Amino acid sequence: MSTGDVLAGWPADAGDVEGGPPVAAGVGSAAAGPTGAAWPAGVHVAVGVQIGPDADLQSPCIVGKAPRGAVEGELPLKIGCRATVRPFTTIYAGNVIGDRLQTGQGASIREDNVLGDDVSVGTNSVLEFGNRIGNRVRIHSGCFLEMVTIEDDVFVGPNVVFTDDPHPMNCPSYKDCKGGPVVRRLARIGANTTILPGVEIGENALIGAGSVVVDDIPAGAVAVGNPARVIKHVSELTCPQGFHERPYQWPPYSEGPPV
Ligand SMILES: CC(C)(COP(=O)(O)OP(=O)(O)OC[C@H]1O[C@@H](n2cnc3c(N)ncnc32)[C@H](O)[C@@H]1OP(=O)(O)O)[C@@H](O)C(=O)NCCC(=O)NCCS
Repeated sequence: MSTGDVLAGWPADAGDVEGGPPVAAGVGSAAAGPTGAAWPAGVHVAVGVQIGPDADLQSPCIVGKAPRGAVEGELPLKIGCRATVRPFTTIYAGNVIGDRLQTGQGASIREDNVLGDDVSVGTNSVLEFGNRIGNRVRIHSGCFLEMVTIEDDVFVGPNVVFTDDPHPMNCPSYKDCKGGPVVRRLARIGANTTILPGVEIGENALIGAGSVVVDDIPAGAVAVGNPARVIKHVSELTCPQGFHERPYQWPPYSEGPPV
């Protein structure tokens, strides 16, 4: 699915932009926000950006930066309502982002990304091009994603790196090669995990901290290590501290049939 396809479906696919006419370009008080209020000084909102009501754009930040080879205003950027964009974030044009986006300080979102509702992109995380992110996805601090597909309700721990090019660099075929990993719904990826190109992490799987995922991981599996190997099923996890009979008996994990 290209960004263009998604833009054609806007707003049905990615949140409402109620009352959000394209805003004027400008830095600081020159530019009007979607409710007519001025953006704070140091907030740059580019020509053609559509952003829904009640956005909290925190200075300094850039919303709608032109990607390399484009001029400002050439590519659309649509962001739903109630976005919180923290200082030093850059969001490029050419993206479709749903409601209630949260970015941490220094987050970077390049062009050709599609994000659903209630997505957070943590401090210093980098979304390169071509990511397709579902709803209620938490991307923690310091992560790197390119050409990744992530379904709903996925947790990505701090400093997780997704790779998409088996033989860096300059391979002329890499975009058609293995591509980025796919993470199915409800999966959790532990801190400092590295995921190799084209790998699929199954629904409700749990990847242990510091793993290197080299092969597909089945649904519901707990996999750890380098290379990551399945050690058990999520339903076999315990809570050694005794707070719970077992982990993940809370929403959203408890809301559907166990995988
Ligand atoms: C995988 C995890 C959930 C523990 O699962 P568990 O089945 O309860 O693990 P146990 O403590 O029973 O350990 C089982 C075995 O796996 C090993 N193991 C556990 N976690 C591991 C990891 N991340 N990497 C490598 N080995 C690991 C243990 O050493 C043990 O090995 P052994 O049988 O040879 O002694 C946990 O270790 C983990 O990594 N959680 C993710 C934490 C995280 O990144 N959170 C992000 C938010 S901050």
